[in-house]
Amino acid sequence: MSIRLGDVAPDFTAETTEGTVSFHDWLGDSWGILFSHPKDFTPVCTTELGGFAARKGDFDKRNTKLIAVSVDNVESHNRWKSDIGETQGTPLNFPIIGDETKNVSNLYDMIHPNASDTMTVRSVFVVGPDKKVKLTLTYPASTGRNVDEVLRVLDSLQLSAAYPVATPLNWKDGEDVIVALSVSDEEAKTKFPKGFRKVKDYLRFTPQPNK
Ligand code: BEZ
Repeated sequence: MSIRLGDVAPDFTAETTEGTVSFHDWLGDSWGILFSHPKDFTPVCTTELGGFAARKGDFDKRNTKLIAVSVDNVESHNRWKSDIGETQGTPLNFPIIGDETKNVSNLYDMIHPNASDTMTVRSVFVVGPDKKVKLTLTYPASTGRNVDEVLRVLDSLQLSAAYPVATPLNWKDGEDVIVALSVSDEEAKTKFPKGFRKVKDYLRFTPQPNK
């Protein structure tokens, strides 16, 4: 069954390159990103894992843990890890789940048989501290993800979890945001002391409230 936004992220216990992980316990009070990699020792995956490892500090700042999954075993991941460190310039600094049984891949519907019977697609699940799925992305094996985009959507998710706002097209951290439709003009005056700009009744902008 596919996983929809707002669903509780399926819990699981799995062996990883950093020991046994029980997903919900491992998340604790953090946000989490679970992302799949079609196969070990493949080029796009190697660049992605190195690229996310290089930006781990940016995820730490956002109280967000990273965990990867690939349908090979932990012993294979450990051998691949040394290639990732050697070729991408940053040692892998978050766990990769050994998913040779495809338990996690199936729980999260990461195998799309019309794309491949044996490998996962490139899925991204952002999970909130309440263990609910906040965002999903799906890319084909041939297209690598973009770390800046994952950080950008994480900023939007965390902001709209804390304030009654939404983020417009191409928004980036620091730019004006949209006042939620659920907030009246009267309420907006107190909730957004920096003021708001009304373009239409339904389109009101305010400076990013946590800046
Ligand atoms: C890659 O990571 O390069 C890759 C993996 C599976 C299929 C195609 C590309």
